[in-house]
Amino acid sequence: MDSFLIKGSVPLHGEVAISGAKNAVLPIMAATLLTAEPCVIRRVPNLSDVKFMGQILTWLGAHVRFEGDSVHIQARKIKGAGDYDLIRKMRGSICVMGPLLGRLKKAAVSLPGGCVIGARPINLHLKGFAALGAKVMIENGYVHASAKRLVGSAMFLGGRAGSTVLGTANVMMAATLAEGVTVIESAACEPEVVDLANFLIAMGAQISGAGSPTLTITGVKELHGAEHEVIPDRIEAATYAIAAVATNGEITLRGARADHLRAVLDKLKDAGAGIERRGADITIRRNGRLKPVDITTLPYSGFPTDVQAQMMALMTLTPGISIITERIFESRFMHVSEMTRLGADIEIEGPSAIVKGGKPLSGAPVMASDLRASAALVIAGLAARGTTQVNRVYHIDRGYENIDGKLRQLGARIERIEES
Ligand code: EPU
Repeated sequence: MDSFLIKGSVPLHGEVAISGAKNAVLPIMAATLLTAEPCVIRRVPNLSDVKFMGQILTWLGAHVRFEGDSVHIQARKIKGAGDYDLIRKMRGSICVMGPLLGRLKKAAVSLPGGCVIGARPINLHLKGFAALGAKVMIENGYVHASAKRLVGSAMFLGGRAGSTVLGTANVMMAATLAEGVTVIESAACEPEVVDLANFLIAMGAQISGAGSPTLTITGVKELHGAEHEVIPDRIEAATYAIAAVATNGEITLRGARADHLRAVLDKLKDAGAGIERRGADITIRRNGRLKPVDITTLPYSGFPTDVQAQMMALMTLTPGISIITERIFESRFMHVSEMTRLGADIEIEGPSAIVKGGKPLSGAPVMASDLRASAALVIAGLAARGTTQVNRVYHIDRGYENIDGKLRQLGARIERIEES
């Protein structure tokens, strides 16, 4: 397994181009299953998760061709069951279920297991499919959903932690080909859901209210092929922004969407960052001393859970006490013990991490446990004195396009040690 060797304490300077959003492109690729016609998706990041999704669609019968940063997909004929090993490898693949149900009126995929960040149930996805008239069954580890006809209805898809991103995506995709009107209350408002809705609208779907908690979908008989450019990745942008502040550098994020980053930029400002916007560019630097901030993760437009670990890395460098509360996933603090190995002082109390920051970090070997935890360890390593080895970086390759190359361009001393 590859690892990164980082020689820290180098301020990052320069420009970084933000790639297409992983969490937008995965459901958008799945949505191409809703039509027999060809679709083209642009600004597709080169990530292992995207490749996996390509393999799943191929296995289901679609023709998938990557070309530069585009992917051409045509699902002329498809089958209704997903490759179980592939679906297990990537949780995002559950979102083939809605399109399969919409188009074929039947779908079977293996029940995704839990993962290191928490239990990851899919009860709300299934509740939505059932509300559309599907019979949903779990048998031998597989979820089966089938219906003679799908019929639109009003449903509430809120759960313990609020809305569900992929649950909303899945039910919205199935509802595009249902008879009549579907209203999803407590729908996820994330920009990735809006991007998917825009792609579906380009395919001929009738959807209103995307980006609000009430999503209305009027079913149509069929969808057609479409072209779409994916939104920039707000989590990637946030990660580089935090790295700039953590290393006392200055970075311009090229092609970012500040309107998708309000909660993060607001907290960075409170923490002592200077932020300037020029069109689609955001320049971020440290403005004097860092200040502690308290953060609670929430569904959009609140502070994203996918940036919690990276922000914690910054708070370990900030003199004073910061309290970081995770409200979306129950065990998303796997990075804490690894940050402690770098000298951070963090205590966990229930859903909160109490960070006593300001002691200098010093390099050490650490283990990446999931995608965002890995990004946080890279940030900590960039700011630490000495050398940090981040092991198991395959996690980071799932969601950050060429992160070591992009960081090197910004002046970081980071090297990929390839597994022999
Ligand atoms: N939940 C349920 N029942 C469900 C679905 C979700 O109780 O049927 C709960 C979850 O347990 C969690 C909360 O609802 O407590 C929110 O989960 P959500 O369904 O929104 O998460 P997701 O759709 O499975 C996507 C992203 C995650 C991101 C979350 C939250 C993709 C492929 N994944 O997951 O991204 O953390 O939304 O914003 O879009 C990442 O990129 O590192 C990542 C984990």
